[in-house]
Amino acid sequence: MRELNKNVTQFKESVFATLSRLANENQAINLAQGFPDFDGPQWVIDLLGKSARGSANQYAPLEGDISLRKVILEHFKDKRGLEYDTQKEITITHGATEAIFCSILALVNPGDEVIIFEPFYDSYLAAIQLAGGVPVPITLKGPGFTFDIDELEKSFSQKTKLILFNHPHNPTGRVFNDSEITQITSLTCKYDSYLLCDEVYEYLVYDHQTFKSLAQYPGMRDRTITISSIGKTFGLTGWKVGWAIASEDLSFAIRKVHQFTTFCAHHPTQKAAAQAYENLDDYLPTFIRTYQEKRDLFVQGLKSCGLNPVIPEGTYFVMCPIPDHYNLVAQAFSMELIKKAKVATIPPESFYINQHFGERYLRFCFAKKEETLKKSISRLKDYFNH
Ligand SMILES: Cc1ncc(COP(=O)(O)O)c(C=O)c1O
Repeated sequence: MRELNKNVTQFKESVFATLSRLANENQAINLAQGFPDFDGPQWVIDLLGKSARGSANQYAPLEGDISLRKVILEHFKDKRGLEYDTQKEITITHGATEAIFCSILALVNPGDEVIIFEPFYDSYLAAIQLAGGVPVPITLKGPGFTFDIDELEKSFSQKTKLILFNHPHNPTGRVFNDSEITQITSLTCKYDSYLLCDEVYEYLVYDHQTFKSLAQYPGMRDRTITISSIGKTFGLTGWKVGWAIASEDLSFAIRKVHQFTTFCAHHPTQKAAAQAYENLDDYLPTFIRTYQEKRDLFVQGLKSCGLNPVIPEGTYFVMCPIPDHYNLVAQAFSMELIKKAKVATIPPESFYINQHFGERYLRFCFAKKEETLKKSISRLKDYFNH
């Protein structure tokens, strides 16, 4: 048989699929995959039923349903102070993942360098590879998960086409400060590069911090693609409605790829998402408070097991160092926890190009019911404290 695409043959099974399967096989609580074990609000789910019974059951426009484009850009203006054109500067996609894929394919030619902060959401690297780009990793080093500015500066070159950034950051939970972001955006402008900022956790920011989009920084509006989606904000990851906000030229290119990837996202869901977003401001305070309570409960629980988790400033993930006296790397240690503690976590090596930086950490997802979190902590306590 003729050979398959060699980019594709190098892709391994996603770590989320592997760990979720192992969790099932071992009757372990699944704190591995990043989705809630409870559904988003019933009033939002009801909106989908209503919109499916309405008149939105044929293809949506390629660029997305107008009501959704409008409400997203209204919130963007209100919260980030930036105006974009509803017709030309936003594209609705099948989740943030499709927006990321289309943006990378729209910008990257074979041989272009793409700076990628590691650990990263694993679809970034796959998309760079499919585009023939050259990934240039910058490591966020634990326990603070900061980057080295000299290293970052050296990684830029005339070939740097794109910087991939995720803010708030999965899996480290970092919400980056102004000085860190300015270092990134200044270099992006200096080297005339583009920046893709994945902001799917934009509303999951704790301790009353303010979140700024990278597009808000000087010189960045027209060189930034801001990506987000409804999945995390409304606890409905299965809805897969995402978007890319970008200048007219960038949006034009993104739409070309989107046209031949999916053409459009699911139409009734876009309509329901638009109506949900109309009520975003009323919904957010309870949403944030609920997740902050989950974070505090879970972080305290991990501490009570004698662990030393890195307290997340945002997102619904915690990175936790493997205690020194356990002589196992993350892959092996997560297997041990699945089998002996009956709790599944993610070994984060596959979120790195330089995998050794991830081998002494485990990632836990705390987007779970209180009872699930308490049960997990009780199992972990039995394992670590016996
Ligand atoms: C950083 C990041 N970006 C994107 C996604 C996926 O978003 P969507 O489900 O809208 O494609 C995830 C999901 O875990 C994520 O963690």
